Order: sequence, then C-alpha cells, then structure tokens
Amino acid sequence: MIRKIVKHGDPVLRKKCPPVNVITAEIRKLVKDMLETLYDAPGIGLAANQIGVSLSLAVIDLQLNQKRAPIVLINPQVVETKGELFEEEGCLSIPGLLARTKRYSFAKVFALNENGLPMTYQGEGLLARALQHETDHLNGKFYIDRLPLFRRLKIQGEIRKRKKTNLWG
Ligand code: NI
Repeated sequence: MIRKIVKHGDPVLRKKCPPVNVITAEIRKLVKDMLETLYDAPGIGLAANQIGVSLSLAVIDLQLNQKRAPIVLINPQVVETKGELFEEEGCLSIPGLLARTKRYSFAKVFALNENGLPMTYQGEGLLARALQHETDHLNGKFYIDRLPLFRRLKIQGEIRKRKKTNLWG
C-alpha cells in the first residue's frame, strides 16, 4: 500500500524515532509499504517517520540501472565515517528543492534487516549519502540542518513561500 509522505513542518519529522523492539508481521508490512511508497516516488530513500510512523526504520534503493536492490535498515547505527563529499541533495519531505550538502564520503552502518538478521552496509558516494540522509531522518534531522547559515535561511524562506502557496500538500 502506497502511503502518504509527510512534509517538512510535520512534528513527527523532528522527533527522534524509538527503536523497533520486535520485528512482527506488522513491521514487515510496514517495510513492504515503505518500499512501495519509495518506488512510487522520485527518491532513493525513505524513513518511517516520513510516512508518519515514529520508528527507527528506513529503506534505501539506489535503483542503479533501473534495477531494484532494496536495503532495509531497522535500528540503524552509523559506526564509521570518513572523507568528505559535497553534492546536491533533496528530500521527499521537502519536494522541489535541492541544495549542495556536506557529507562524509564513506559511511558504514549496522542495522537489522526485516528478518531480524544483523547486517552491515557500507559504501561511498551515493550510498554513503543515502545512509547518512536516512539515519538523520530517524534522529529528527533534515539535510537542510547541515547547510551553512546563509544557505539554510535561504532554503527555509523558499519552504515558507511554498507552504503559503499550497505547493506543500
Ligand atoms: Ni529525506
């Protein structure tokens, strides 16, 4: 089932998501819905709080060469980072806007998959950015929080304008 993606301004996106304690059938259904929602949207990652569910759970699929390769992150923890990357980033909860964002160029994450198995995901570039972006969401953070003050104020002004003109949905 495709779920509605909540937008910047909804308090659920600012709350730190509590961990998933038991991986029930309900959690597996949530994962399935999140992947369906992600594939229906112009994005490569989705956190549970972006569909209004405050739980430490996110999905990523880089969909390289149009091939599906879903990554399910339950209770993810970033355990290693290095390097630096400065690339354009967007977010399904801040539609229509992009900004060059500073990130680590490498990230390693421990998480459980939907079967409760411990997994390690690591990578550079796009995968590193997606891992950082989604774990940020679960901590109540947006990529725009990482922008330098002037650019952050500019994009926040742009968001306010869009909220007024009903482009926010
Ligand atoms: Ni996002």
